[in-house]
Amino acid sequence: MSNPDLVIVGSGLFGLTIADRAAREHGARVTIIESRDHIGGNAYSEVDDRTGIEVHKYGAHLFHTSNERVWKYVNDFTSFTDYVHKVYTTHQGVVYPMPINLGTINQFFSAAYSPSEARELIAEQAGEFAGKDPENLNDKGISLIGRPLYEAFIKHYTGKQWQTDPKDLPASIISRLPVRYTYDNRYFNDTYEGLPTKGYTAWLENMADHPNIEVKLSTDYFDESQELNKKNLRGNVPVVYTGPVDRYFDYELGDLKWRTIDLETEHLDVGDFQGTSVMNYADESVPFTRIIEPRHFHPERDYATDRTLIQREFSRFAERDDEPYYPINSSADRETLLQYREKAAAEPSTLFGGRLGTYQYLDMHMAIGAALSMADNKLPDLLRS
Ligand code: FDA
Repeated sequence: MSNPDLVIVGSGLFGLTIADRAAREHGARVTIIESRDHIGGNAYSEVDDRTGIEVHKYGAHLFHTSNERVWKYVNDFTSFTDYVHKVYTTHQGVVYPMPINLGTINQFFSAAYSPSEARELIAEQAGEFAGKDPENLNDKGISLIGRPLYEAFIKHYTGKQWQTDPKDLPASIISRLPVRYTYDNRYFNDTYEGLPTKGYTAWLENMADHPNIEVKLSTDYFDESQELNKKNLRGNVPVVYTGPVDRYFDYELGDLKWRTIDLETEHLDVGDFQGTSVMNYADESVPFTRIIEPRHFHPERDYATDRTLIQREFSRFAERDDEPYYPINSSADRETLLQYREKAAAEPSTLFGGRLGTYQYLDMHMAIGAALSMADNKLPDLLRS
């Protein structure tokens, strides 16, 4: 499309939502440029050749929201299954339900506590640091749920996620650790939950399926050999940029720090490896944090019953060339971010959005909600600029 009215950098859910609103609501001609060879950002999924199972390429994606507007909006592009997410954790060879609930507590203490007895027990165990301000994540964890449960289920799992002993992590990383005094082990508390019936990619492609929307894959905004690059467009064409904010400014104020994950995939000649979609591993002796078995995301599908695949998930700090997944958000990062934000606010005809453009962890419904707000409040002016 020559001379688009709007260029969007990044085809993740934020960019796709902006593209949809610009094209369908404002009749604008939109070009999305995407550096990867596929649409959809981290929510993208593909069908595994050997098993026919849909695999979330960048890590498990579960859709959930209590935002009515977002729920109604996403249902314009896909229907959702009635999948309800549940997580289990293996600790010292025994499987427990997560998040910690009455079932976990009674199994762990080999007891039959009532809700109020369990509440009393955890309050007593959490009293170890009473009256003191926890100095680190370890003390904070103990002060929230008591030492026995913290050390079994949180300490080493968190240590593996951060490659750091929780004694050396700031207490601020966690504000609460949910404990339910019922047997409810639904992972999410949201009103709506499910997985896209025909898969993530069908959903994402539907969002971009409009005559006014063109998607250019394998096209990087900073590659000056392609026409729609930053140097050519800056100040000339309205842009919504959803790539990393520090990269936009050539890292001139320093890198914002992220964690990433590595997924190790294994194919197995069994119909079912673990009986559930996500099994956490709480112990230090197991190097990965969890195993995902994607076939269980779609029990309604007719997958082959003699083979499956699993993904072992390892967590680590990201280098500049890794996929940035979870912002570290240290106080140094927050200071750097404020300075980048000032520069971003002064950029001619460019809006920054999405998890990379704003350096914050956003669930899918949050990314969509934020994009809908930008479309309401800022897009009309941007399109006029
Ligand atoms: P996203 O990262 O998806 O898209 C940005 C796009 O911009 C990418 O496609 C990138 O290639 C492109 N880009 C960057 N720089 C570019 C450049 N210079 N030129 C061109 N293109 C460029 N959410 C949830 O609700 N439930 C869940 O279970 C999970 N699970 C989950 C697991 C993991 C491992 C991660 C990392 C994230 C989740 N999420 C999630 C979050 C979810 O992935 C997130 O909400 C969306 O990806 C946000 O969409 P964005 O468009 O902001 O970013």
